[in-house]
Amino acid sequence: VFKNNLTFFAAAKVSSSFPPADLPEIAFAGRSNVGKSSLLNALTRRWGVVRTSDKPGLTQTINFFNLGSKLSLVDLPGYGFAYAKEEVKDSWEELVKEYVSTRVGLKRVCLLIDTKWGMKLRDYELINLMERSQTKYQIVLTKTDVVFPIDVARRAMQIEETDEYHCSFLILLISFLIEDDGKLQVWCWHPKPENG
Ligand code: GTP
Ligand code: MG
Repeated sequence: VFKNNLTFFAAAKVSSSFPPADLPEIAFAGRSNVGKSSLLNALTRRWGVVRTSDKPGLTQTINFFNLGSKLSLVDLPGYGFAYAKEEVKDSWEELVKEYVSTRVGLKRVCLLIDTKWGMKLRDYELINLMERSQTKYQIVLTKTDVVFPIDVARRAMQIEETDEYHCSFLILLISFLIEDDGKLQVWCWHPKPENG
């Protein structure tokens, strides 16, 4: 359904340049380098629509993509990027906070967490903000391919057990795979399939 239908339509550095909220919107948030832009690519099974990098701090604006004229997908700049200048870091973080707490039409924030590192202070801060602004969110554990399966399961359980929040949707586990012909696949599953 989604194949080849992702088109970039706006980049914003300040909230006044957010495009009109005409479509239901899903945003991808999380620390720098956690795999937000890669997940967007993988969801459309295309490499390169969204720029990714092995260096943290690549995405520096809020980037809006149109998915088959049905959905708006939003790539947020990452937080917690240790090497960025303080004032730059602050302005990205403020922009992300303003976006998640005020954006009309925002149906869900996928909060990406690196499976290896788990949740950090900044992630909890964002969750607190989303709780206060009643923004729906879902935790997505990324890069599950570089961690032993037992550690993936432990991480998912640890987040569930310590989660005193009201995560609106089940935790998802994901990793992507580049096939021999250059196509992208995203692997995605629930830690507890019996719960649907
Ligand atoms: P910022 O734009 O800096 O906030 O980063 P980002 O969250 O958009 O991360 P990005 O998608 O650019 O990916 C960062 C690095 O992680 C890249 O080198 C990706 O190839 C790698 N990566 C992303 N997802 C996965 C995954 O599922 N598995 C593995 N092994 N690597 C991944
Ligand atoms: Mg990015």
